[in-house]
Amino acid sequence: MAEDKNTFYTTTPIYYVTARPHVGSLYSTVIADALARWHRMLGQKTFFLTGTDEHGQKIAEAAAALNESPKEFVDEVSKAYKDIWHLYDLDYTDFIRTTDERHKKAVYYWIQKAQEKGDIYKGFYEGWYCVPDEHFIADKDASDDAEPPLCPLCGRKTIHASEESYFFRLSAYQDRLLKFYKENPHFITPKERLNEVISFVESGLHDLSISRKSVSWGIPFPGDPKHVVYVWVDALTNYISAIGYGDPNKSKEFKQWWPADVHVMAKEIVRFHAIYWPAFLMAADLPMPKKLLVHGWIMVDGQKMSKSLGNVVDPLALAQKYGIEPVKYYMLRQLPITHDANFSYADLEHAINADLAGGVGNLLNRLIALAEKNNMHELHAPAQWSSEASALYESSIQLIKDYTDYLENCSFHLALGKLWQFVHQANAYFHAQEPWKVAKVDAAKFEEILSATAHALRTMAVLLWPVMPQKMEALLQSIGVKCIPGVGSMGGVALDEWTANMQLTKIPALFEKVEKEEKKSEEVSVKKEEPENSVNIETVASVELVVGTIIAVDQIEKSEKLLKMQVDFGDRGQRTILAGVKKWYVPEDLIGKQATFVFNLAPRKMAGEVSQGMMLMGEDADGKPHPVSPAQPVPNGTRLR
Ligand code: MSP
Repeated sequence: MAEDKNTFYTTTPIYYVTARPHVGSLYSTVIADALARWHRMLGQKTFFLTGTDEHGQKIAEAAAALNESPKEFVDEVSKAYKDIWHLYDLDYTDFIRTTDERHKKAVYYWIQKAQEKGDIYKGFYEGWYCVPDEHFIADKDASDDAEPPLCPLCGRKTIHASEESYFFRLSAYQDRLLKFYKENPHFITPKERLNEVISFVESGLHDLSISRKSVSWGIPFPGDPKHVVYVWVDALTNYISAIGYGDPNKSKEFKQWWPADVHVMAKEIVRFHAIYWPAFLMAADLPMPKKLLVHGWIMVDGQKMSKSLGNVVDPLALAQKYGIEPVKYYMLRQLPITHDANFSYADLEHAINADLAGGVGNLLNRLIALAEKNNMHELHAPAQWSSEASALYESSIQLIKDYTDYLENCSFHLALGKLWQFVHQANAYFHAQEPWKVAKVDAAKFEEILSATAHALRTMAVLLWPVMPQKMEALLQSIGVKCIPGVGSMGGVALDEWTANMQLTKIPALFEKVEKEEKKSEEVSVKKEEPENSVNIETVASVELVVGTIIAVDQIEKSEKLLKMQVDFGDRGQRTILAGVKKWYVPEDLIGKQATFVFNLAPRKMAGEVSQGMMLMGEDADGKPHPVSPAQPVPNGTRLR
C-alpha cells in the first residue's frame, strides 16, 4: 500500500460524543493502531488518525439535558476518548475534533470547491430524517408503511423535516461512482459489502441535502449562517482536514498522506463512506481512498453492543482486570474481522490462559529457567542446525510470508491463527527435544535447542509487536534482540537468518493466568449432588470444539491406522489433522464431510506427521467410528457451545 511513497495512512471513524468509549469503538481503534504499527514494522512512515464527531442536534440535546453548554459537554467526552486510547497505548498520530478551527476551514474549502464545480444549489427538503443517525431517509429506503417510517439503519422512528436546504448534486456522480467500483474491486473489504453498495447506487441516487436550518450546533454554512453544514459532510471531511486540506502551509503534508490507505469502520456506516465520501472527493478533484475495511459488530447476547441498548462493556474495567494487551490480542485474534461476533469473557480468559500464558509465555519461561539452571547466559547459533531445528526454521519462514499476506488484507484473526500454529509447533519442538535431559549429556546440542527456541520466540515477538507492543518489547529484551519499528523491514531484525547470538535476561512472567472466580454460593450448594467425575463450566468452555469441512485426505504409508486430512475451518484457516480411521474409510468417503474437531488440542506427532487437532467420532455396534457432524451444515469455523 502506497509503496511508491512508502507511507501508510489509516483512520478510524470519528466517534459521536453522545456515547463514551466502549468496547465497540475500542475495537475499531485497536484495529487501526495495529495496522499502523504493522506498516511501521515494515519500515513505512505511518499516520494514524482518530477523533470525535462533535456537532449535531442530538449532541446539543445531550448537553442541554446535563445543563451544560455544548462546548463543555464535547470537551469532556472527547477527553474521555483520548484517556481510554492512551490507557490502551493506542499510538495515534493525530486526534481530530470537528470543533477544531482547522477542521472548519477545511470544510469551508471543500464547500467552495464543490460550489465552483456547480455541485451545490439551494432547494427545499421535504422528507424523513433520523436524528440519532443524522441521516436523510430516501423514499425507497423507508420500506415499511409506518408513519413516521423507521430508520433503515437503526430501526428507530424518524422525524419529518421540511425546510430550505442546500443540496449536493450526488445524482450527477452515479455513473462515475459505478465506474470507480468496477475499476477498484478491492475498494471494500469484505467484497460482499461492495456488492451491496453497487446495487444501492444502481437503483438511483438522489441529490443530498447538506445543510440543516433547524439545527444550531454545527458549522455555519458559508455565506448563509441560518444553516449549519450537514454533519456527515462535516464528519467525513475530518479525514482530509487533519492532514492539512485547504491550508496553503500544509500542502506538502497533505500530498504526503492523501489518499488514505485504509479507512476502518463497522458496517452501518459503509454507505456514507462508499457513496457520499468518494462523490465529495470527486467534486473536489481529489484521489479516492484505497480501501474501506469494514468490520462486523461486537455483540452481547446476540445484540449489537451500543449505548442505546445499555449493554456496553467498559474498556477501563477490562483493562483493570485483564491488562490492555491481552484484551487487544483477544479482539484481533478471536473476533473475525468480517463477521459479527459475541464478546465473551470465557473466550477472553481462555485466550489469556491457553494462548498467551500457556503458549508464548510458557515457552519463554521454560527457556530462560532452563538456561539459568545450566548457567547459560548467552546462546550461540550453531554453524549447522539439526533437521528438527531446520524444520522449525522453515516453518518460521513460511509463517512470515503467510502472516504478511494476511495482514496485507487486514485479516488479523487469520494471521494470528497462523502464528499460533507456529507457537504450538515451537512448544512441541522444545518438549520433544527434552533439553532438560540433553543438558546433562551434550552441551552443544543443549545450546542448539535453546538457540532454536530463542530464534522462534524472536520471530513471534517481532510479528506480534503491532498487537502487543509492550509485552513483545519485554520478550525481545529478555532474549537480547534489538528491534526498532520504522527502521527497515521487520524493525531491522533479519528474521530469515538464524545466526544470532542471544543474551538472556530473566524477566517477570509475561502473562499471568486468570484465576477462576470464586464459586457463587448457589453453585457451591448443589455441589454435594454432583457425580464424582463432574467438571465445572470453565473446564467445558476451555475445550474449543469447532466445525470444519474435510477438503483433502491422504494415506500415510508408514501407518496402518492413520489417515491425514486437510480440514477447512473458514476464517480460522486450514489445518492438518490425523485420524485413526484407515481401516474403515477410503479418502473419498470423507472428502467434503463436515465434522467436529477439538481445535485447541496441543499438536501431536504421529507416524512422522503433526496433527493439529482431533476429530470427534462415535463408534457403532461394529466398532466403526463415525465423525460427529452438525444436524444441518453450519459455516466452517463455527465453535460449538
Ligand atoms: N460519527 C459517526 C462516524 C463518522 S466517520 C466520518 C459515527 N459515530 S459512532 O460513535 O456511532 O461510531 C460508529 C463506529 O464505532 C462504528 O462504525 C464502529 O467503527 C465503532 N463501533 C461502535 N459500536 C460497535 C460495535 N458494537 N461493534 C463494532 N464496532 C462498533 O457513526
